[in-house]
Amino acid sequence: MDDRLVGSSFSIDDVKEYNLRPVCLDEYIGQENVKKNLKVFIEAAKMRGEPLDHVLFYGPPGLGKTTLANIIAKEMGSSLKVTSGPAIEKPGDLASILTSLEDREVLFIDEIHRLSKTVEEILYSAMEDYSLDIIIGKGPQAKSIRIDLSKFTLVGATTRLGLLTSPLRDRFGVLLSMDYYTHEELKQIITRSSNILQIGITDEAALEVAKRSRGTPRVANRLLKRIRDFAQVRKLNVIETDLARESLNLLDVDEMGLDKIDKRILKAIIMNFNGGPVGVETIAHFLSEELGTLEDVYEPFLIQQGFLIRTPRGRIATDKAYQHFGMKK
Ligand SMILES: Nc1ncnc2c1ncn2[C@@H]1O[C@H](COP(=O)(O)OP(=O)(O)O)[C@@H](O)[C@H]1O
Ligand SMILES: [Mg+2]
Repeated sequence: MDDRLVGSSFSIDDVKEYNLRPVCLDEYIGQENVKKNLKVFIEAAKMRGEPLDHVLFYGPPGLGKTTLANIIAKEMGSSLKVTSGPAIEKPGDLASILTSLEDREVLFIDEIHRLSKTVEEILYSAMEDYSLDIIIGKGPQAKSIRIDLSKFTLVGATTRLGLLTSPLRDRFGVLLSMDYYTHEELKQIITRSSNILQIGITDEAALEVAKRSRGTPRVANRLLKRIRDFAQVRKLNVIETDLARESLNLLDVDEMGLDKIDKRILKAIIMNFNGGPVGVETIAHFLSEELGTLEDVYEPFLIQQGFLIRTPRGRIATDKAYQHFGMKK
């Protein structure tokens, strides 16, 4: 869906990112509030010898939701099964996953807002009473049977909390919001990753990369890998600020972490729509970008950084956006 270097969606390049993934809570950098909550809930559940309550993570892509699902299973001393909303086509698919779960096992459903209605309904009783109600046969002979499930933990992840139905949302005991990372946190993540990738990086250079990583660990790791390529070609063992800057410029990522597409979006609003307000559908159409991608992937960062505001009448480019391009209103 998005192959840009600073795109926060998962791409082929990230297949090897598993080894950059922190494996326990203490290794996980940032999201202090989320960690603090999880620690308490995990400890309490373990003391009671019960499964952890169902957990929902929501926030933009690349911030560490999948990583946390893995960590939860590890910290609970159990295993993890992974699936996603679009991957479960029929209620029977979900039923067979649910019946295969063991006590205290963690089921991770990514993009949970994309479950179909009929599949979602299966989850209600599974989450609430650890049971499945299945109808066998048709017409007057139809019988409903109840199947007991193991006491599992559901971990859901979504980029769009608003798209979750309230019956589903209400069945999660713990809702945790993921925020963009600070430069300092990203700097730590970059330093940690460069250790794993066996390339040196100075503090200053790590901070430079952090600043251009749009608050997102996945982007930080991806930029680091590309800069490492530049370093390797030049036979350098340590990434210094100059090399970082030079590589990032060649990669078309500017000092604020904006790439070509971000700039196209902002410039279109400024130059073609007079700075806005302009409807998001109009922008998507004008740029031939998918509406969902524009709203989920590109916009949140531009809004968080104060380049763009969302109003009921449409999107507006802020003074900061004009200044960024050296333009006047
Ligand atoms: N808190 C963190 N500390 C270190 N690395 C992280 C952290 N969060 C995410 N990452 C890195 O970013 C990558 C993307 O995280 P992921 O959990 O796949 O994001 P999401 O599921 O929210 O899209 C991971 O492979 C991991 O290397
Ligand atoms: Mg994920």
